[in-house]
Amino acid sequence: MLYKKLAASTEKALNEQVQLEAESSQYYLAMASWAEVQGYNGIAQFLYRHSDEERVHMLKLIRFINDRGGHGIVPTLKQPAVTFKNILEIFELVLSHEILVSTEINKLVDHCLQEKDYTTHTFLQWYVAEQIEEEKMATQILDKLKLIGEDKGGMYIFDRDMATLQTEDRR
Ligand code: FEO
Repeated sequence: MLYKKLAASTEKALNEQVQLEAESSQYYLAMASWAEVQGYNGIAQFLYRHSDEERVHMLKLIRFINDRGGHGIVPTLKQPAVTFKNILEIFELVLSHEILVSTEINKLVDHCLQEKDYTTHTFLQWYVAEQIEEEKMATQILDKLKLIGEDKGGMYIFDRDMATLQTEDRR
């Protein structure tokens, strides 16, 4: 017995978030593959993990939509970028993408408050907290890359350290 079935508008908004999380996973997968081909194996490992986590974010949404009497839709995905200028550009893109995700999560939270859907509102708090971590992580990585600049030795150590950097995923 469901406490309260999802409103059609909320189901649609959640499925749009499913799409965005799936696109995030594809985007980071494309970055990982490019980094690996360039010889940045540690950064590639980090980005492959990050891509996997975005897929988990998508799955959590699909399962929630289905648990609430809706239908989680597996989306069509567009081709992400294939090449990137350098590692600095990659993490600038990661940060701007995460800021976009945060904006969309905030819109969803606002929608739930307007609909008085407190169950979905509570579910979304996990994503609100996750976005703080994701933006913080991307910002910290960018700060390090700016310190390293053109120093090849610094980049070698950075790449090595990224292989084991935890992304603080709280799934
Ligand atoms: Fe699931 Fe990085 O947003």
